[in-house]
Amino acid sequence: MAALVRHVTVVGGGLMGSGIAQVAAQTGHRVTLVDVNNDVLKKAQASINVNLQRVAKKVYKEDPAAGEKFVAESLSRLNTSADLKDAVKSTDLVVEAIVENMAAKHTLFSSIDKIAPEHALFASNTSSLSIAEIASVVDRKDRFGGLHFFNPVPVMKLLEVIRTQETSEESYQAMLAWGKAIGKTCITCKDTPGFVVNRLLVPYMAEAARLYERGDASARDIDIAMKLGAGYPMGPLELADYVGHDTTKAIIDGWHKKFPDNPLFKPVESLNKLVAEGKLGIKSGEGYYKYKK
Ligand code: CAA
Ligand code: NAD
Repeated sequence: MAALVRHVTVVGGGLMGSGIAQVAAQTGHRVTLVDVNNDVLKKAQASINVNLQRVAKKVYKEDPAAGEKFVAESLSRLNTSADLKDAVKSTDLVVEAIVENMAAKHTLFSSIDKIAPEHALFASNTSSLSIAEIASVVDRKDRFGGLHFFNPVPVMKLLEVIRTQETSEESYQAMLAWGKAIGKTCITCKDTPGFVVNRLLVPYMAEAARLYERGDASARDIDIAMKLGAGYPMGPLELADYVGHDTTKAIIDGWHKKFPDNPLFKPVESLNKLVAEGKLGIKSGEGYYKYKK
């Protein structure tokens, strides 16, 4: 019987971590959201508040009092902290959603492996890194897996659940059960670069950027084309702005280093330029497009 997850610690309070924390809190879990930056935690709390109101308005449209209760109860289950070691002392599951950098993820997991309870599961929300390689620094390799969410987490229904060769059947089943408990549809794939979605989506966004760099079409026309011609909810350059160019650059650079002969993973000039200029997409106010603050 898979262990029940009641208390979740989400590490990294940015785009993804705040969404994961929200979804866990609104589905009855006690949540601690951890970040090194207190301003990030304040921003995360504010956006979770707004997004919970959105959910309440939709789910409880006939009963506003029940909606208010849902928001208040969800918020009461959510705490924030800048003290990682203290936050994992009584947790059942740690979901890591910090920067897409192997060394940073190693530092984080090795620092909590001896502190978190023996039974606690560890998971990474990495977009592109090997789960087994991230897990290599911990003793609990049998209790380590990938839980890959999609942006925006409260809306996107998919969760990719990744097991390495060392993830135990019990841990894998517990992760699937938790995915179901937070209302996601789970799929599983091997610990392969980009899992399923990003292995297809990232080369697609990169190819759109190359089309734009060659001047074959404007950003606007590329995006309209894919929305109206292929039925995608966002065009590829809009989506790249939405994901964040620092994250996409980290993904492509990492894959290019590992697989230098694969033309799909070639560095993308316009993406590198945007990152160098601090234009990270929606989160910084500018990317391929400009956004109102
Ligand atoms: N939190 C909560 N709810 C949100 C939300 C958020 N951040 N953003 C949107 N919503 C809700 C809205 O309230 C709205 O709900 P109702 O329909 O019930 O009113 C619904 O989502 C649709 O929102 P909007 O009307 O504002 O906007 P939209 O129809 O244009 O949809 C979108 C927005 C859901 C983001 C849609 O454009 C979309 O699906 N885009 C593609 C997203 C995508 O591909 N994500 C994956 C990125 S790759 C990734 O995540 C993996 C990786 O590792 C990089
Ligand atoms: P982000 O830049 O919005 O947030 C990252 C957060 O981590 C920042 O707030 C930063 O202060 C914090 N942080 C960095 N080091 C930390 C540490 N040691 N301890 C605690 N907090 C720390 O990034 P994001 O877009 O939320 O991405 C986070 C992870 O999720 C990455 O691995 C990324 O590849 C993955 N991911 C991103 C997306 C996306 O669409 N952006 C989708 C799925 C998965």
